[in-house]
Amino acid sequence: MTILDRGADPEIAGKPTSASRTTLSHIMTGNDTNLLGTVHGGVIMKLVDDAAGAVAGRHSGGPAVTASMDEMAFLEPVRVGDLVHVKAQVNWTGRSSMEIGVRVLAERWNESTPATQVGSAYLVFAAVDEDGRPRRVPQVMPETEKDRRRYQEAQIRRTHRLARRRAIMELREKRVAEGLDD
Ligand SMILES: CC(C)(COP(=O)(O)OP(=O)(O)OC[C@H]1O[C@@H](n2cnc3c(N)ncnc32)[C@H](O)[C@@H]1OP(=O)(O)O)[C@@H](O)C(=O)NCCC(=O)NCCS
Repeated sequence: MTILDRGADPEIAGKPTSASRTTLSHIMTGNDTNLLGTVHGGVIMKLVDDAAGAVAGRHSGGPAVTASMDEMAFLEPVRVGDLVHVKAQVNWTGRSSMEIGVRVLAERWNESTPATQVGSAYLVFAAVDEDGRPRRVPQVMPETEKDRRRYQEAQIRRTHRLARRRAIMELREKRVAEGLDD
């Protein structure tokens, strides 16, 4: 499949992955904890959404909204005093949507030990115009083999998201037609 097969606008120049790749870093404090004393998952999810939103805005050159967040994985607990780095990049682009891949790393704020990965997520952002309607985005141009692998994996996730949504809509319509739901 070529880039134009996906509905890309040939008049919008593509952008390399590195042009919008972003890292957001934050030290976790007592305000970020859950009842167990470790960092609340929602705090990490907000940082993930913030970093992905910055990438989506930079890539698309304007406002972009979160359409979905999936496969948010928490691999290790995050603690007070951890310096968390949220690394985000555009994995894939469609007509108006972008998949942003995010990796979350943590290291002790005052130690020189290497950071470990504590989480990851995939988000879909839609670029919107001033009326909130989807607008076209530049096609992402993967630069490295890792970028190309992420692009291919994002296409698989996109296919599954669309198929799942279609299957659920068909089931709901069938149940309404059979009088089981209203
Ligand atoms: C996201 C939004 C702009 C989509 O608008 P829409 O009228 O459904 O437009 P479309 O169906 O054309 O979708 C636009 C693109 O987003 C993608 N998309 C829409 N909903 C999606 C979802 N749930 N998951 C993944 N992708 C989605 C579509 O596949 C399409 O991609 P493409 O243009 O690259 O092919 C709209 O639903 C919206 O504004 N949602 C609220 C966003 C928001 O407020 N986020 C913050 C939450 S607090």
